[in-house]
Amino acid sequence: MSEQTPEPGAVPATPATSGNGGLPAGVKPGATKILEVNDIQTYYGSIQALKGVSLDVYEGEVVTMIGSNGAGKSTTLRSISGLNPPKVGSIKFRGKEISGLAGHQIAELGIAQSPEGRRVFPRMTVLENLEMGAFIRNDSQIRSDIERVYELFPRLKEREKQKGGTMSGGEQQMLAIGRALMANPKLLLLDEPSLGLAPVIVDRIYEVVRELNSRGVTILLVEQNANYALDVSNRGYVLETGRVVLSNDSTSLRTDPEVQKAYLGT
Ligand SMILES: Nc1ncnc2c1ncn2[C@@H]1O[C@H](COP(=O)(O)OP(=O)(O)O)[C@@H](O)[C@H]1O
Ligand SMILES: [Mg+2]
Repeated sequence: MSEQTPEPGAVPATPATSGNGGLPAGVKPGATKILEVNDIQTYYGSIQALKGVSLDVYEGEVVTMIGSNGAGKSTTLRSISGLNPPKVGSIKFRGKEISGLAGHQIAELGIAQSPEGRRVFPRMTVLENLEMGAFIRNDSQIRSDIERVYELFPRLKEREKQKGGTMSGGEQQMLAIGRALMANPKLLLLDEPSLGLAPVIVDRIYEVVRELNSRGVTILLVEQNANYALDVSNRGYVLETGRVVLSNDSTSLRTDPEVQKAYLGT
């Protein structure tokens, strides 16, 4: 999926660049690129999980990556956040190469990840988990940001002193997102926030995703549940076995027959 401007007169490759200055379809004209992932290859030992993944995220967007189990969605996020750095390729955040940096350095630059499987610290309380999320900060806003997380997820305030591991799956997902927000990220990476949760909880989580985005947080969202993901996002990338096979604005992806057949269950 090249994001290059097509040569004049050339047949544009997917994604379509709907006349907005060569930007991918669905990107607002004049938008600034915040994340540029270029042809990354990432391994687990000798197993190659990513075989050349490229994607861009522009400031203010919600971009989604959809794909079946094992496609490489989590690995892409882990490559960006420095947990599994790519062996080949480049990742630029706000113009700066980050693919060689340690995870905490990437966090300090403004990228936070809410990991798959809502990993919270099980023996720490809700409050302690949120405080851990702010470990890279030493400013005076931490307490008020905890209150902001509680406003988004009032349930967490009710459970402030409860241990993370004793909460329901939905509450742990809220806590995992809340903890990522405590880093005050410019780019939030969300890995399968709907996985295994009751629809009413998923709806609440997606309301919060919208709310965060409307407050200016740029979001890269990984989902197997393409229905939710395409609803909330501006643009999307489809991953299959470590490669991007399709990208477009989310409305177009939603009506794409291949996407419908493979990922929307229609
Ligand atoms: N820790 C690991 N060790 C070995 N292989 C892994 C590991 N994690 C993921 N993989 C493999 O990498 C590929 C991509 O996995 P992943 O990024 O988790 O996919 P997704 O998040 O799209 O389900 C899969 O083939 C998976 O089996
Ligand atoms: Mg995954």
